Amino acid sequence: MADVRPLNIPVILGTTRKGRMSAHAASFVAAELAKRDGVVTELIDIAHLPLPVDDAGEGIKDPAFSAKMNQADALVIVSPEYNHSFPGLLKHVLDSCLKEYIHKAAGIVGVSAGPFGGTRGIQNFVPVLRELGLVPLFWDVNFGNVNKVFDESGQLLDQGFVRRTDKFMKELIWMAKTLRYGRQNFPLD
Ligand SMILES: Cc1cc2nc3c(=O)[nH]c(=O)nc-3n(C[C@H](O)[C@H](O)[C@H](O)COP(=O)(O)O)c2cc1C
Repeated sequence: MADVRPLNIPVILGTTRKGRMSAHAASFVAAELAKRDGVVTELIDIAHLPLPVDDAGEGIKDPAFSAKMNQADALVIVSPEYNHSFPGLLKHVLDSCLKEYIHKAAGIVGVSAGPFGGTRGIQNFVPVLRELGLVPLFWDVNFGNVNKVFDESGQLLDQGFVRRTDKFMKELIWMAKTLRYGRQNFPLD
């Protein structure tokens, strides 16, 4: 029987940079996700996670972040493009968990100052998500030229992103439901 609990889909803001435009993208995506029936979400800001940088991997697991990843049915990860890749601190945070992610969908939101919407960073990010046991969507949201998409206060200037985000979320929710059903009904031998 289908699980009637709402899907739990946190949005991870994947940069700690002062003045980060990705914060506007993350807030927008979380707000759009919160409008969906049957979905609960929260914004997880990696800048607020107490993860040390003198060690790495599961040795620095934060119990609260680990519990959130355990409870999640899928993730949205907002990743700015830094030198054609994703932020190192985002990977440091994600590396702190492993079994928490297995067979859960991951949607990526790319953000860049340039026109490509973080696609070069996303190309590098997908193999990392796969190694963590996550299942990346085949659809992303790409906030290219982000300074023209949001104003300084975070107001959306390009309404085309409502439609693009809607398409992404339909896919995300389908994947989250399907994989939850699979996790609950088809245990690995
Ligand atoms: C270290 C660093 C490297 C960057 N490299 C790129 C890049 O390769 N391509 C690009 O379009 N923008 C690049 N940017 C600009 C960011 O994409 C831009 O700041 C954008 O607003 C998203 O990042 P933010 O959330 O930190 O603002 C870089 C920014 C930083 C801080």
